[in-house]
Amino acid sequence: MEKLVIEGGYPLYGDIEVSGAKNAAVAILPAAIMACKGVCAIDNIPDINDTKCILSIIESLGAKVSKNNNSVIIDSTCMTSVDANTEEVRKMRASYYLIGALLGRFKKARVEMPGGCAIGVRPIDQHIKGFEALGAKVKIEHGAVVAEAEELIGTNIYFDVVSVGATINVMLAAVFAEGKTILENSAKEPHIVDVANFLNSMGADIKGAGTDVIKINGIKELKGCNYSVIPDQIEAGTYMMAAAACGGKVNINNVIPKHLEAISAKLIEMGVHVTENEDSITIESSRDLKGVNVKTLPYPGFPTDIQQPMTTLLSIAKGRSIVNESIWESRFKHVDELKKMGAKVSVENNIAIIEGVSKLSGAKVTATDLRAGAAMVIAGLIANGKTEISKVEHIDRGYPHIEEKLNRVGAKITRIKK
Ligand code: EPU
Repeated sequence: MEKLVIEGGYPLYGDIEVSGAKNAAVAILPAAIMACKGVCAIDNIPDINDTKCILSIIESLGAKVSKNNNSVIIDSTCMTSVDANTEEVRKMRASYYLIGALLGRFKKARVEMPGGCAIGVRPIDQHIKGFEALGAKVKIEHGAVVAEAEELIGTNIYFDVVSVGATINVMLAAVFAEGKTILENSAKEPHIVDVANFLNSMGADIKGAGTDVIKINGIKELKGCNYSVIPDQIEAGTYMMAAAACGGKVNINNVIPKHLEAISAKLIEMGVHVTENEDSITIESSRDLKGVNVKTLPYPGFPTDIQQPMTTLLSIAKGRSIVNESIWESRFKHVDELKKMGAKVSVENNIAIIEGVSKLSGAKVTATDLRAGAAMVIAGLIANGKTEISKVEHIDRGYPHIEEKLNRVGAKITRIKK
């Protein structure tokens, strides 16, 4: 089990390069198996455990995968298996995208129930509702989702909750449905647009991704394409929080500033100097931070995936801040860890009330999930003394080379392999 040891208290200066978006890549890689002609050459894949896991699952289904740094070539022309049942499938949430991809291409999928971060109940009823509306029969059998259809027929589907996963998954299956599918109350996250652009590059006919109404005209086959994944909005946001918390001046490069507007707006409200450039954002902070209130919302609102790093930042901001988590009911596990470091936070239901303190002190803490881990890294960077973070494997699921990127701008982080 590896640990990160952080010596806190150093300001950050320099440049951080943001990698490709995890939540786009983990949907685009399963979508690539829908090509029955040619190969998909995909670039800007983040080097994280979640993409390694998805690639290994795709290989287990019979696709040929060759990886070179951040690029991957996927040849799924000879693929025939529709049964995703390896250990990796159960480990990660995004393996559910194989249901939509396999159901679309082969009209049959058997995918073990997905895992992922323990941040609350994570139902997939809206995914199933969409597949059934397209004409599939879906059942849960021996811990796997089994979806099957003689044919898929386009229809109107209204999602009862705004769901990133359901929007993408049903979009994948609908690419091969006969006629037109209209998805209403769709999620609008940047990675949904990215997946739609990828599918369109393969020959799909999808319009409206990025709005709440997505229209898909069914087609008969998809072919390979060349594609590059968008930059990771959440990785960028996490480094924006780190720079604001530590003080100094950091350029966060390879970003789409528009995707970061909700985060930039909150930082500006806190007194941080934020400059948007064409494809980078500069954060300048004197650490003289003002508390603010935050409510997480679907895009373009403040992202739930930045809520945990934001809680750390607010723990050292002057005055009282209130954080309302409206997407996940159990996403405050990092608070008990922050309290070990001297933060004053109380949680009631989905609301955290934070009384800012002037400093945190280093302690032994745990990365309870992916973004909680990022929150603890930021806490370690600003704390006096040494912080030791265990369960680093959670952080490695979503942040490529986190200690190298932060050490390059002045952090002091060591990975201990035990
Ligand atoms: N929901 C339902 N029924 C469904 C699907 C979702 O009730 O069928 C509810 C969920 O319980 C939740 C809300 O709808 O309360 C939103 O869930 P959503 O489906 O949007 O989440 P997801 O697709 O499972 C993705 C990201 C998460 C991110 C959320 C929200 C991936 C692989 N995961 O999850 O990312 O928090 O969208 O933006 O894309 C992370 O990266 O740390 C992470 C957890």
